[in-house]
Amino acid sequence: MLSGPIPRHVAIIMDGNGRWASERRLPRPFGHRAGMKAVREAVEGAIDAGVEVLTLFAFSEENWSRPAPEISALMDLLEEFIAKEVAELKEQGVRVHVLGDRSRLTAGGRAAVERVEHETAGNQKLSLNLCISYSSRAEIARAARLLAEEVLKGTKKLEDIDEEAIRAKLYTASWSDPDLLIRTSGEQRLSNFLLWQLAYAELYITPVLWPDFNRRTLVDAILDYQRRDRRFGKVTAS
Ligand code: FPP
Repeated sequence: MLSGPIPRHVAIIMDGNGRWASERRLPRPFGHRAGMKAVREAVEGAIDAGVEVLTLFAFSEENWSRPAPEISALMDLLEEFIAKEVAELKEQGVRVHVLGDRSRLTAGGRAAVERVEHETAGNQKLSLNLCISYSSRAEIARAARLLAEEVLKGTKKLEDIDEEAIRAKLYTASWSDPDLLIRTSGEQRLSNFLLWQLAYAELYITPVLWPDFNRRTLVDAILDYQRRDRRFGKVTAS
């Protein structure tokens, strides 16, 4: 059991499935399948550590331009993940939410997403947010549109549009901002993920490719986080 401050909310950019597969001369979908197992590791590691919210970047809006067979392999994996995991997630007290533009999913994908959200709705131990067909700029534009609609209807005043009003319209409105962002595979960018919410997150970039991610990798990230001096733009009290 870890002692010391535990990040309440951990976000992860799960990257490197393709490279993991290429290293083994396998087609890319094999990497995604191996990545699905790492999702289970991340969930169990988060529960063990006492993390309250785990937000995973599973599929970006930009990923829709990948080759059709890869997209359909990823969508099939999502449905398979839900079918296989829903009982265990329920048992472990995990509440699942899917964040993103779900209108672009297939009817089967949407039904699976609704099912897992419905069946885990009473759980409280860990909130697992799966970002699917998600892009942060689209999320912020959507928030602006929702607020503009309220102003046009006369239910909100222009001067009430502030940071809190925008925050409340993001997909992540129910949770505090991530304390820790992990990105696997060594890439040093945000890739249109939670741009608003990550304003003060601590970043942890590991060369580990996502399919090789396990509980130990999560513990290493949390131990590194515990050595950070979080100042939120202020100075440390002395
Ligand atoms: C990035 O690796 C990963 C993805 C685009 C997909 C992530 C999907 C999973 C981990 C599996 C399914 C997840 C759930 C929640 C069911 P990449 O393909 O960009 O790798 P590369 O940069 O090495 O090419």
